[in-house]
Amino acid sequence: MDTNNILLDFNSQFQMVESHSQLEEIRIKYLGKKGIVTELFLNLKSIDESQKKSFGAIINNLRNQITQQIDNKKQFFDDLELNSKLLKQKIDITQPIRKSTDGFIHPISKTIKEVREIFSNLGFTCADGPEIEEDFFNFSALNMPKDHPARQMQDTFYFANSQEKLLRTHTSNVQIRKMLENPNPPIKNIAIGRVFRRDSDQTHTPMFHQIEGFMVDEESNMSHLKWVLEEFLKQFFEVNDINLRFRPSFFPFTEPSAEVDIGYSNSQGRIKIGSNEKYLEILGCGMIHPNVLQNCKINREKYQGFAFGIGIERLTMLKYGINDLRMLFENDLRFLKHFGFKSYEF
Ligand code: PHE
Repeated sequence: MDTNNILLDFNSQFQMVESHSQLEEIRIKYLGKKGIVTELFLNLKSIDESQKKSFGAIINNLRNQITQQIDNKKQFFDDLELNSKLLKQKIDITQPIRKSTDGFIHPISKTIKEVREIFSNLGFTCADGPEIEEDFFNFSALNMPKDHPARQMQDTFYFANSQEKLLRTHTSNVQIRKMLENPNPPIKNIAIGRVFRRDSDQTHTPMFHQIEGFMVDEESNMSHLKWVLEEFLKQFFEVNDINLRFRPSFFPFTEPSAEVDIGYSNSQGRIKIGSNEKYLEILGCGMIHPNVLQNCKINREKYQGFAFGIGIERLTMLKYGINDLRMLFENDLRFLKHFGFKSYEF
């Protein structure tokens, strides 16, 4: 077998190769399982012992030359492909940006982002929970057994044919889920999300947003809670002083419990946070009830904690001077254009 001729043949065919697929064809023809060069190696077996070594070296050399050429060409095609891709996908960053007049970030989204940032800086983790929830996480584990009258305070959407599945009425379900996941405090978490209640008037919509924050460790107390809330609200409203009114209240999952109002004034359509002219209730809070800790397998003798639930819509209305809750959900373009944010302000 004349290996020179094989090489000459290969070269003349190789010159015509113009694509990856043609290259692959020729590789298979020469180096594949039944390829010309591979067959030469198989034939070695039947060759006279005295010639085996020298012939072996020759076909080895032939195989190396062919392999080398194929590899080089493959690299060449790869580079070509990459360069043409780069050329096609090139972006001219000196071109002026396209001005978009549509598309705004909703004020609720803006608030959610800001709240996340502030609480992350205060050392809270952020973990959300499901909106379709089981009775246990929304009620029972929160110290509200089936016949508890407080269940009626929250007009619940149940799923048809089920007393167990519901749309969560508050974000407190996340407290339970986080504690069950993590039986060894300290835990500091906030969850932000949609909640649902059968309620609709000027100050209530069937869907709204809450932030649930809580902290469990060996010694957190009401004054820590107060500090966290004050610090958060000062940062959120970008003011140095804030006026909060803590009113004793009742939640089955906290003891003691409080509702908190924020002081503001409203002159000529401008809302000023920090005054004590008017008050708006913005959150509920308290020390986590020991029964709740126990339901979450946390040692109630060793650990304690606080929790709070804040209304995102209320925060947003106060910050941007929006006076009807329903405007937030009507998606009136005039409202969105006026109160929405451009993506670069987000
Ligand atoms: N889950 C309560 C509600 O939606 C708010 C709350 C949260 C109160 C945490 C106390 C502690 O009304």
